[in-house]
Amino acid sequence: MRILVTGSTGLLGKSLCPMLDSEGWQYWACNSKIFDVTNTKMVNEIMNKISLDFIIHLAGFTNIDQAEDNPEKAYEVNQLGTKNIANIAKKHNIPILYVSTDNVFDGTSDKPYKPTDATNPINVYGKSKLAGEREIIKATKKHYILRTSWLYGVGGYVDAMLTFSNFRKEISVVDDQIGCPTWVDDLSRKIVEIIKEQKPFGIYHVASSGSASWADFTKKIFEIKKRNVAVTSIDKSDFPRPAMRPKYCVLDNSEKLPAWQNSLEEYLTAKN
Ligand SMILES: NC(=O)c1ccc[n+]([C@@H]2O[C@H](COP(=O)([O-])OP(=O)(O)OC[C@H]3O[C@@H](n4cnc5c(N)ncnc54)[C@H](OP(=O)(O)O)[C@@H]3O)[C@@H](O)[C@H]2O)c1
Repeated sequence: MRILVTGSTGLLGKSLCPMLDSEGWQYWACNSKIFDVTNTKMVNEIMNKISLDFIIHLAGFTNIDQAEDNPEKAYEVNQLGTKNIANIAKKHNIPILYVSTDNVFDGTSDKPYKPTDATNPINVYGKSKLAGEREIIKATKKHYILRTSWLYGVGGYVDAMLTFSNFRKEISVVDDQIGCPTWVDDLSRKIVEIIKEQKPFGIYHVASSGSASWADFTKKIFEIKKRNVAVTSIDKSDFPRPAMRPKYCVLDNSEKLPAWQNSLEEYLTAKN
């Protein structure tokens, strides 16, 4: 199995690539420095020269607030970049797996979103990722679109909170935004499973089971690691940011992952 992995240096890529190693699969791990997905000419030139069996497209412009300030860049990476990579899949007639986001929904639902529910993104990041989904669907039927949410792993939000707890004893965290905190290792394992089992092509929701607010999630981090930090719940409106966030973005977890509390415990137990 020869796999192209874009975005390999990101939070998810750093978890996934060692798992591809364990499977004995060959993969070409790329970041923006060695393979800029927005450079259409370079993408086509390189791809004409190599032979591939599968593409995992993780590269993305992922900073939600910066996307609001720089929509051209967000669309360039998330739509044009995805179109370029999808066209390689089409040309080589190979499957492509694209990781998308809960931000394609507006968050006004009161029940978990199913893959078939209507999308309606409320920020530039969500709109540009949805545009990426559409490029994939337009290019090839051999696609897996995995929507996930609130990823954490080495160097992410959970680690930042632990570092924070070394210096501060209180923090204010948003309590009226609900989602599914998801460990990158759980998602990576699911990606490997989908490839190995050759599951039917289509859109999947892949996030932890259950739901939490950022305040719930943060409290649990400190509880598990026994850090004495007081978490004060605040509303989104008390913490204005450039991008609007969907209020309720729980994904109907069609590809069951463990409960978020269990995965968080496992992640934190393995850390010193
Ligand atoms: N993090 C989340 O909570 C979350 C939630 C839902 C969905 N997702 C999606 O999951 C995917 C992976 O997310 P992540 O958190 O691992 O992202 P990340 O940590 O921000 O990493 C982004 C990756 O994309 C690469 N990249 C950015 N621009 C590129 C370009 N023009 N050409 C080639 N590579 C480029 C980066 O390379 P450099 O290192 O060179 O910059 C990096 O490897 C993304 O598509 C994201 O939209 C993430």
